[in-house]
Amino acid sequence: MYLDLVQLLPASAMSRVEKCLRFEVESDLPFMEEVASHLINAGGKRIRPGLVIACANIGAESIDEPTVWAGVSVELVHIGSLHHDDVIDGAATRRNVASVNTKWDTLTAVLSGDFLLARASVLAARIGLEASNLLATTIGELCEGQIREHQDAHSCDRTIQSYELSIRGKTASLLSASCRLGGLTGGLTREETEAVTEFGRSYGMAFQIFDDINDFTSDHSALGKPSGQDVMEGNYTLPVLLTLKTPAGEELLDLLSGGLQEQNRQRVLEIVRSGQGTQEAMEVARSWSHKAIDSLSSLRDTPPANNLRNAAQTLLANLPHST
Ligand code: IPE
Ligand code: IPE
Ligand code: MG
Ligand code: MG
Repeated sequence: MYLDLVQLLPASAMSRVEKCLRFEVESDLPFMEEVASHLINAGGKRIRPGLVIACANIGAESIDEPTVWAGVSVELVHIGSLHHDDVIDGAATRRNVASVNTKWDTLTAVLSGDFLLARASVLAARIGLEASNLLATTIGELCEGQIREHQDAHSCDRTIQSYELSIRGKTASLLSASCRLGGLTGGLTREETEAVTEFGRSYGMAFQIFDDINDFTSDHSALGKPSGQDVMEGNYTLPVLLTLKTPAGEELLDLLSGGLQEQNRQRVLEIVRSGQGTQEAMEVARSWSHKAIDSLSSLRDTPPANNLRNAAQTLLANLPHST
């Protein structure tokens, strides 16, 4: 469903991104190149470069080199952050292949993740000072979001505000930066650039909340991992936090307090899936998607701008139905 955005873009632009991605992780150290290429080769939706190109397309029909570099740099930051995220979350698989920490080890995942962030920074510097500053700021925000999530781990007192600040940093920041970079390299006006930056932030919020709802509502085969992985790891996301505020929250609180046991996973899934909290989380995701579309109100009805609107609409249309 997220693929709509990428599929509507000129195929040649995306294939230039693919080629450049592989080129930019070449290394004199063959092992580093092998590890850094592992998740690139495993696929992924390429939403972030898709946003860069879609936004650049608002200002320019033809895609120039700096736009390709911008697309590659945000995907490299994303993949670097996935190397690190899988260490943090102890995840065994990613993009339907073994995670880097599982195929090799933690140290390799951390250092190759750093390598990817470094290569992303080189590309951003090639675009210019503003891009370089934006990318570095975004990497910092991503780390703050992840640390905030870690600080709140296993806490039933986690506030909605703290959850929102965490996903704003760990996810929305990079989606917003992707749009802004496309705005810069595509020569959008300042007003248009601000509009797509805001779009990316709100779309990013909806995107992460959607991912967090999916962790409960989708099954193992769709997720590529067992449902309820976030809650088992102590990451109490929006559906859990909102369920805790409902009558069903009392039993949930009992199960979560003192550490959730594997044998209680199914019961937790049942409570969260069937409760009011998941419905309310969907409402929040919906309102971020609408906010994303509203941010584009000053942009004309051109195919590239409609491609962005469509991406937010598709998220809305695919919100899961709770059981
Ligand atoms: C995964 O991002 C991490 C989140 C922010 C939810 P994506 O869903 O874009 O992952 P890939 O790139 O398609 O693997
Ligand atoms: C996404 O966080 C990782 C980053 C945004 C850096 P999650 O831990 O929620 O995402 P998945 O479920 O592992 O893809
Ligand atoms: Mg994770
Ligand atoms: Mg995580």
